[in-house]
Amino acid sequence: MSHWVVNVAGCKRRRRRLCIGLSVVWVSVAFVGCLSLERMAPPVDEGLIAVGGQQGFDSQVLVRGRDVYLNQCIACHSVEPIDRYSIEQWRETLPDMAQEAKLDRLQTDDLLAYLMTSHHFLRTASTD
Ligand code: HEC
Repeated sequence: MSHWVVNVAGCKRRRRRLCIGLSVVWVSVAFVGCLSLERMAPPVDEGLIAVGGQQGFDSQVLVRGRDVYLNQCIACHSVEPIDRYSIEQWRETLPDMAQEAKLDRLQTDDLLAYLMTSHHFLRTASTD
């Protein structure tokens, strides 16, 4: 919410009304963003488990991978929507980030399995 304050405070007086209007829109967008954690990092439900199974990952792996993602990967930034990046980009980024988060080998493998599965799930699911 600090953006809101900065944004409004930074407005020239005669533009303040427009600025506040835009800030409200910005806050709404951010708020909707907050609500869609399930869209950014889907829960391990039947649909996801089915997709994971096709890729050879069992549900335990996915549960552990999501757990790593939501607990170890938010120390420095918020949750990244998984389908914002291509599989190639993830493969490129993950070794660095695994190091940043000090993950061990099992955690890294679980996380990769969860990311691959979720990516496929989100890109193929006919949500919104
Ligand atoms: C110690 C801090 C830290 C931790 C922990 C961390 N990150 Fe990051 N992450 C960063 C920084 C800093 C950047 C931006 C600079 C960069 O791309 O290196 C970033 C960027 C990213 C990006 C965007 C990369 C791009 O190319 O735009 C993704 C995706 C990401 N992190 C995922 C993760 C995941 C997944 C984890 C957990 C394994 C994680 N991060 C843990 C610090 C961290």
